[in-house]
Amino acid sequence: MRLRKREPKENIEESKEFVKMLRQKLSCNKGKMPSEEPPYKKKKLNSQHSHSHASQNGFVNNYKLQQERRRLPIFPAKHKLTQQIRSLDTAIVIGETGSGKTTQIPQFLHEAGVHRGSIIAVTQPRRVAAITVSQRVAQESGTLLGHLVGYSVRFEDVTSESTKIKYMTDGMLLRESTLDPLMKRYSIIVLDEAHERTIHTDVLFGVVKKAQRDRKKKGLKPLKIIVMSATMDVDHFSNYFNKAPVLYLEGRQYPVQVFYSTTTQSDYVMAAVVTLFQLHRDHPPNQDVLIFMTGQEEIESTVRCIRDISKDMVGEGPPLVVCPLYAALPSHLQLKVFNKTPEGSRKVIVATNIAETSVTIHGIKFVIDTGVVKAKLYNPNSGLDLLKVVRISKAQALQRTGRAGRESSGTCYRIYTEEEFDSFKKNTVPEILRCNLSSVVLQLLALGISDIVNFDFMDKPSIESLIGAVHQLHSLGAVTKEDCIKLTPLGKQMVSFPLDPRLSKTVLIAKDNHCLEEILSIVSMLSVDSVMFTPQSKREEALETRKKFISSDGDHVTYLNIYRAFKSVRGNTEWCHENFINLRNMRLALECSQEMSGFGFFMNAAELQKEGEFISLSSRKPVNIHPSSSLFMCKPAYVIYNELIQTTKCYMRDLSVVDPEWLYEAAPHYFRKKKPKPG
Ligand code: CDP
Ligand code: MG
Repeated sequence: MRLRKREPKENIEESKEFVKMLRQKLSCNKGKMPSEEPPYKKKKLNSQHSHSHASQNGFVNNYKLQQERRRLPIFPAKHKLTQQIRSLDTAIVIGETGSGKTTQIPQFLHEAGVHRGSIIAVTQPRRVAAITVSQRVAQESGTLLGHLVGYSVRFEDVTSESTKIKYMTDGMLLRESTLDPLMKRYSIIVLDEAHERTIHTDVLFGVVKKAQRDRKKKGLKPLKIIVMSATMDVDHFSNYFNKAPVLYLEGRQYPVQVFYSTTTQSDYVMAAVVTLFQLHRDHPPNQDVLIFMTGQEEIESTVRCIRDISKDMVGEGPPLVVCPLYAALPSHLQLKVFNKTPEGSRKVIVATNIAETSVTIHGIKFVIDTGVVKAKLYNPNSGLDLLKVVRISKAQALQRTGRAGRESSGTCYRIYTEEEFDSFKKNTVPEILRCNLSSVVLQLLALGISDIVNFDFMDKPSIESLIGAVHQLHSLGAVTKEDCIKLTPLGKQMVSFPLDPRLSKTVLIAKDNHCLEEILSIVSMLSVDSVMFTPQSKREEALETRKKFISSDGDHVTYLNIYRAFKSVRGNTEWCHENFINLRNMRLALECSQEMSGFGFFMNAAELQKEGEFISLSSRKPVNIHPSSSLFMCKPAYVIYNELIQTTKCYMRDLSVVDPEWLYEAAPHYFRKKKPKPG
């Protein structure tokens, strides 16, 4: 299929008319539209060699899968690559997304016996990647999932005695390492998607390196480390891993035509939707679209918006199958994006950066890149973790673009100007340099590493943020700070929870205070995205209907009421509909509550001042009650809150009224110094 090339000018004229028409169709059910569609200007073509790719027909048989394996760019390199890796302690493997690194390399090593009968661990930054890849590899190897090939993610372990290739989240391997710092179960550890530089991967780099060294010192079986990635800063990695050799794989990338917006877009969501419908109108079915957005709420509302519009546009383009994709989406729904698009229709996937490199989705011909991502940022001075929508890096933009050229030539629409692109950072800042480090420090201490400051980090976090983390753990009662920093018995218990230390502490307190069930229910409600569904057209009705759940104690008890009501009707769908409750998120909360736990509320406490303003007790900074809270119009003396959101002001979200005595009891060493004066 050849792409229709259009000149920007023609594009603008067409789009004005098109936007007008769209606006008319949508006037009843949508908000604002941009004054005109983002007119695009063309950027260079990026061309390499071409291959044809087997079309998927949804019918999986092993012969066909083996054929597909042979066609992967990595296949011709199989023998050489296996030999090289066999001879190396540590190797760095670089190859474009889709070349076959994640699915093939572990199989090659297993087939050639490089693993010497032990387990090959392959880490992934995301659950969904670990699950889908292991399913694929099990299919390819003609075995049942959980036998030769398995996976282990938080709350789910699909492995057995016979598992030799184990895909797992980086967080899971890190947790395992606290129980066995030498990682003796594994002969090969593959650290995949290394360019993502998640906080867990970064810590694993140091932990795995140490395990390799210690095993050698003790004369134990050697540990082979393989670091894999799409394009990244190779020298930095190689230097860190004792000058490990870098093995490059030939990639497969078809030309992708890149269009930039000619003007800055103030509403990237609408600009993306308009772009989608324009290309939808102009292109034949079964050419799928991938849109990058930032998070659940935005994605869900975009998905609804696209579905609404497409209802009004029957006959103007093929039917649309619209799928959201984000980490918090329940697994079975995430897996929907991998289903084959029905003949004669078009699939549109609206995803977070999850779709950048770690998952393979077939049939993508168009990418719409909004140029933004939600990132966690930590300010060691204020002690706040903030989720903020920020610009992606150039490296991320490139990866996003690449998604359009996996199986044939494609097109990428960037909802930003070329000048804006030029201002993007070259690489993404590693998470470890921008997050709260308390759980990292807790993990390191559990590994027996007390000299945190001199830990072999690839990029060292600032001393301030490390000290801040130690302070926080101390205030939680997890560490002592006498001659050296050590875990307390409580801290040791906290390590065993796959949660933020504040959360683990709350669960532990709840247990002692006989309110575990309540705490678990509330925490699970807070762990999923909003369970309240408030459609714009029925706003008043929704708020009125849900009034019966509201507690004067605040949002946490309100959540508990909803949770209990949901349980008492046994998760009835009709009940959710009538009460404007999001069934999907409620089910997820129910799942979570079986294993999840509380959080260290007392760290998040605020005190009312004489002037009627609140200050946060940990940072002594002014904070405000978020207008969405049921306590918005109240002035309780003390509140605890779940998170701080920085917009025009610093807002506390999800609050409850609290007795200051409780704060003191929960964390005497924290509040002794700063215990608020009575009255
Ligand atoms: O890791 P890398 O990006 O290099 O590639 P991969 O994940 O090993 O994927 C190689 C190929 O396997 C993809 O191009 C897909 O054709 C196929 N694959 C799949 O069909 N389903 C998956 N869940 C994963 C991979
Ligand atoms: Mg991969």
